[in-house]
Amino acid sequence: MKIKDLEINGVTFLAPLAGITNLPFRQLIKDCGCAVVCSEMISAKGIFYNSEKTITLLKSREGERPLSVQIFGSDPLSMGQAAQFIDTLGIADIIDINFGCSVKKVIKQGAGVALMKDLVLAQKILKAVRDATSLPFTIKIRSGWDATGDQAVNLAKIAEDQGVNAIAFHPRTAAQGFKGKANWELIARLKQVLRIPVIGNGDIITPQDAGKMLSRTGCDAVMVGRAAMANPFILSQIEQYVAHGTFVEPEPRAIFRKMETLIQGYVSYFGETTACRMLRGRLAWFIRGLSGAAAFRKELSSLASSAQALEMIRDFEANLNT
Ligand SMILES: Cc1cc2nc3c(=O)[nH]c(=O)nc-3n(C[C@H](O)[C@H](O)[C@H](O)COP(=O)(O)O)c2cc1C
Repeated sequence: MKIKDLEINGVTFLAPLAGITNLPFRQLIKDCGCAVVCSEMISAKGIFYNSEKTITLLKSREGERPLSVQIFGSDPLSMGQAAQFIDTLGIADIIDINFGCSVKKVIKQGAGVALMKDLVLAQKILKAVRDATSLPFTIKIRSGWDATGDQAVNLAKIAEDQGVNAIAFHPRTAAQGFKGKANWELIARLKQVLRIPVIGNGDIITPQDAGKMLSRTGCDAVMVGRAAMANPFILSQIEQYVAHGTFVEPEPRAIFRKMETLIQGYVSYFGETTACRMLRGRLAWFIRGLSGAAAFRKELSSLASSAQALEMIRDFEANLNT
C-alpha cells in the first residue's frame, strides 16, 4: 500500500493514543514489528504558541520511521502552521489530523469529532494543511454523530477532494466513546466510495480479528490501539498472520524483556520520577491474566524507582517459572 509516495511495508498501524504513544512506547512497538507508528494527538495551538510541553511531544528517532504525527485543533491557520512546522522539523513521514477524538475537552474547542458536524470548517482545515505541506496527509475519523455513517462518508469524500492521501476509520459514534462495538460494515462502505486507501480501526484484539477486518471490509491496512497496550507483539503477529496464515505466540519471558526495555526507555526519556509515576499505571497491562498479576499491580501502585520495577519483573518471572 502507498500513502501518496510513501510505500508502506506491511499492513499495520499503531493507533494514536494520547498519553501512551510517546517516543519510548512507539519505539518498543516498532522494534516488535509494525509498519507505521503514530504519535499521540498534538495540539496545533500548542505548536503555534511554542508550548514547551507540546514541542516535547514532537521528539522522534530515526529508528521509529515511518512516523505519522497527529495534530488536532479547530483553527485552519494554526493547523496549517503546525503542519508546516512539523514538516520543517523533518521528523514526520505522514501528517494526520484528528477528526475522531470525543473527549469533552477536545470537543469543547470545536476539534476532534466536533469537526465532523461542521464540514465547512473541516474543509478549510483540510485545505490549510494540504497547502502547508507536501507530506503524505491522512485523517482519522469516527462514524460521526449518528450511527448511519453518512457524516463519515461525507467528510471522507471532501477530504479526498482536498488531497488527503488515506483515511483511518474508527466506526464508532461520538457518543459511543469506546463502548459497544465498532461497526465494521461502515468501513466496507467507506472503502467502496473512496479511491484513496482506508485504514480500518476498532476492536482488533487478535491477529484473526485483523484478518477478518481486512477480508470483510476490503480495507487496505489495519490500525490497532488498546490491544497493543497489553501485547506489544500484536502488530507483528498481525503481519505474520496476514502474510502466512499463522503467527508466533510470544513467551512470557519475551514480554518481560519488553517491559524492561520500556522501563529503560521511559527513564531515559521522561527521567526517573516521571517514568515511575507513569509506569505505575502501565506495566501491569503486559501481565494481565498471568498468575500473580493482582499482587504485581498492587505493588506497582507505589513504585518508587526503576530499579524496583526491574526487580519486580525478575521476581514475577522467577515465581512464574517455579
Ligand atoms: C487511551 C486512549 C487514547 C487515545 N488517544 C487518541 C488520540 O490521541 N488520537 C486519536 O485519533 N485517537 C485516540 N484514541 C482512539 C484510538 O486511536 C482508537 O481509535 C481506538 O482505541 C479504537 O481502536 P482499538 O479498538 O484498536 O483500541 C485513543 C484511545 C484510547 C483508549
